[in-house]
Amino acid sequence: MAEYVYCNGTLVRADEAHVGIYDHGFLYGDGVFEGIRAYNGGVFRLTEHVRRLYRSAHALSIRLPMEQDEFRAAIIETVKANNMQSCYIRVSVSRGTGLGLDPEQIHNDPTIIISTRQLRLYPQAMYDEGLDVITASTRVPPAVCIDPQIKSLGRYINNILAKMEANRVGAGEALMLNMAGNVAEATGDNLFLVRDGALITPPTSEGALVGITREAVMKLAADLGVPVSEKVVTLYDCYTSDETFLTGTAAEVIPMVRLDSRAIGSGKPGPITHAIIDAFRRCTATECEPVYA
Ligand SMILES: Cc1ncc(COP(=O)(O)O)c(C=O)c1O
Repeated sequence: MAEYVYCNGTLVRADEAHVGIYDHGFLYGDGVFEGIRAYNGGVFRLTEHVRRLYRSAHALSIRLPMEQDEFRAAIIETVKANNMQSCYIRVSVSRGTGLGLDPEQIHNDPTIIISTRQLRLYPQAMYDEGLDVITASTRVPPAVCIDPQIKSLGRYINNILAKMEANRVGAGEALMLNMAGNVAEATGDNLFLVRDGALITPPTSEGALVGITREAVMKLAADLGVPVSEKVVTLYDCYTSDETFLTGTAAEVIPMVRLDSRAIGSGKPGPITHAIIDAFRRCTATECEPVYA
């Protein structure tokens, strides 16, 4: 069956969709994006993802030519057109097409692409046994340069460099520090520590994205009676935690059992991590917005 993508207002075959060579996203990383997941015929936290997309676009003064409910409908139509039940949905928006930095030289609407794919970041063994992670030398940029709350295309060049550092030593992920040396997040995930039965995650003011999986996990933990707090996290805190795990739409919830060659806790996924993974699975099985209603 042909793959369909939403491209600037219409569904077209993926092999016929195209973005102009002077697209500002391609030329300058001038755009915003979202990664969303569908589970069993429903989209997880669709409203939250579209709201974050609109906030990112607004912060960059990119004006989306439709209301949020129309955007949500476009995402649902794209999943339907591909007859998908469970998939990863990539939403990419750029400021539009025009040569030169100046946004005033862009005389068209933003470029909007929505695509669906199967995506599994890690083999099952890594979810069962946990990830080996390193600390990257590449830092997250300070919020006064690029605000981490804006899920912008351009900001990801650093995350890609950090991911390459992880790849070079065969690690599954890399933690990224901010300019003060505190832990911000991983290249594509938020970080949680477990210490004395409670969860700790760095505040987004330390350079982390306001992750939608992070928010879901904070709520699930509260429902399970596990206290959660946002605190500045150092590498020492990570090395000496009882358990750690990462959260993100692509990776979902994955245990992190080693950091910079140190075992974390027992070196195996711990009981609270297991409880959160189970609760997250139940949540994605029951709290999705139906595509085929
Ligand atoms: C840098 C970064 N941090 C954290 C996350 C996790 O966010 P979410 O749970 O909304 O996917 C992502 C993924 O989008 C990310 O790219």
